[in-house]
Amino acid sequence: MKKLLIFTLLVLMGIQFVPMNVPAEVPTKADEELQTPAEVEAILKRACFDCHSNHTNFPWYSSIAPASWFTKMHVKEGREHMNFSTWANYDDEKKLKYLQKIPKAIENNKMPLPSYLLIHNEAKLSEDDKKIISDWANEAAFDLE
Ligand code: HEC
Repeated sequence: MKKLLIFTLLVLMGIQFVPMNVPAEVPTKADEELQTPAEVEAILKRACFDCHSNHTNFPWYSSIAPASWFTKMHVKEGREHMNFSTWANYDDEKKLKYLQKIPKAIENNKMPLPSYLLIHNEAKLSEDDKKIISDWANEAAFDLE
């Protein structure tokens, strides 16, 4: 039993050296960022920005493996899929695709990722929040079409 404990501790210590780097704050040019009404921005910042922007607040445990791997993987993947910090660089077709997917993703409770919500209570969306985001996305999509 004691051996198992020591072994586990050693493994946990060992994996701390496995590098997995996602820059926390990537400099963003103001004119590249998504422009939205303040009301929409507040919700996106609270619920989506950790993974879909260059402004990620990494919690303390995200520097400890293996939690750090999951956190950084989500952030890396989230940013790759859709990054509000470089929004202006997307062409209209891509913006439209994202705007159409946003309401679906939140209505189906796929976003924010359920695993993220377990530890980020503040990111939970109320029905009102969902409506504000969906209305904004639908309108913005309509303007592009
Ligand atoms: C914990 C990280 C995380 C958070 C928070 C998060 N997302 Fe995501 N999101 C991801 C990942 C990872 C993917 C890609 C894999 C997938 O689709 O499941 C993704 C994919 C998406 C997609 C599909 C993009 C595409 O390429 O088709 C949309 C739309 C989306 N997210 C919207 C949102 C919205 C809106 C919020 C906030 C209400 C949000 N996400 C919050 C991690 C996150």
